[in-house]
Amino acid sequence: MMKTGGKPWQTTSLLIGLILGVIVTVSTNSIINWIKSKYVDNKKKDPSFVRSIEITDSIMGLIGNTPLMRIKSLSEATGCEILGKAEFLNPGGSPKDRVALNIINKAEEKGLIKPNTGCTIFEGTTGSTGISIAMVSRAKGYNAWIVVPDDQAEEKYQLLEKLGATVEKVRPVGIVDKRQYVNLAQSRAQEFGKIKKEKSFENNGDDKQGDNDNDDDNNKGSGYFADQFENLANFEAHYKGTGPEIFKQTNGKIDAFIAGAGTGGTISGISRYLKPLIPNLKIYLVDPPGSGLYNKVKYNIMYSSSEKEGKRRRHQVDTIVEGVGLNRITENFNMSQGLIDDAINVTDEEAVTMARYLVREEGLFLGSSSAINCVGCVRIARKLGPGHRIVTMLNDSGQRHLTKFWNDEYLKQHNIIPKEGEGLSFIE
Ligand SMILES: Cc1ncc(COP(=O)(O)O)c(C=O)c1O
Repeated sequence: MMKTGGKPWQTTSLLIGLILGVIVTVSTNSIINWIKSKYVDNKKKDPSFVRSIEITDSIMGLIGNTPLMRIKSLSEATGCEILGKAEFLNPGGSPKDRVALNIINKAEEKGLIKPNTGCTIFEGTTGSTGISIAMVSRAKGYNAWIVVPDDQAEEKYQLLEKLGATVEKVRPVGIVDKRQYVNLAQSRAQEFGKIKKEKSFENNGDDKQGDNDNDDDNNKGSGYFADQFENLANFEAHYKGTGPEIFKQTNGKIDAFIAGAGTGGTISGISRYLKPLIPNLKIYLVDPPGSGLYNKVKYNIMYSSSEKEGKRRRHQVDTIVEGVGLNRITENFNMSQGLIDDAINVTDEEAVTMARYLVREEGLFLGSSSAINCVGCVRIARKLGPGHRIVTMLNDSGQRHLTKFWNDEYLKQHNIIPKEGEGLSFIE
């Protein structure tokens, strides 16, 4: 025990001890805080870091935060840095996972659906969105009913079925027709609601939906029409997710962003997020044959030359490319008004040749919409000149396209012959 009133050297030692103690405590805390802030900051800044170390609660935790990859062969050949957002790494294999999750989350927030109560999510889709809706529905406790045109790659139907969705294949017809796949999904959701309503439930919701009563007891078994074309939860998934990720991954240093449009959610959401932050950024739409968007962006006229009587090979959009191309303006595409600087037309031959080039040069096995994006990147790199940075979307893997886009026999039958020639000379 120390006595009070000790010798002066004892008091001095005590004081020094106290000061040293305070210094050690303060600096230890600062070091811990510094390490913490570094760790947490990095976690926020670097999406790939999150992907690699975090333990997620469900498959939904694997959605988004996709890496950005340098496409070396295209970058070296053009002198521009060409980066692809590896969306094929989403658990459902495409960026539509983000969209499905946000659409379902929003419907839950509005009280339109409730998990494990027999609610069914309805959607009309050419494939990818259906797969994502089927996956997220299973993960959350819903049923999925997917209406699909019957001319899509066979593996897409099989995947939907394996994911437990009800699959309804229909003939491709125009959007004005009640039997068009999107219209049919909407009416199926309404019918589903009515059947449930007859059985005991009330329907007081918006008329696009089936039974979507806000009351917890009454929303059991409601039918919900996901409506990816018009539902702005699609745009929002990219505005709040993909756009900010690209900004973080590039520190905002991008000269051009390139994407196709199927619903328009991707190009609208990303460009609306990035353009105000990067004033000189140019946005380019890539469009396949048969789509009217190229002419809409270039000349403000929605017209495709395959609309001419007798020229059309397919009903919807006249191309081997799946998932992109439109002949109407959707709410989601509309969100890109005033943001798209120019459009690029890509032929089917260029798309299949690019896909094969990327496997040969990089081992990168991509689907058709990613291939047209890459053709678009090369065109824009040539236009801007060396030294620019261009970002695009690598939407899905070639595995989704084995029976059509990646089937040489099928291509031959449809007179789509990969182009010959050195390097990237196949791109006009
Ligand atoms: C395979 C595929 N292609 C293209 C797109 C772009 O389509 P959208 O305009 O609907 O966002 C997507 C989007 O998720 C996709 O999954």
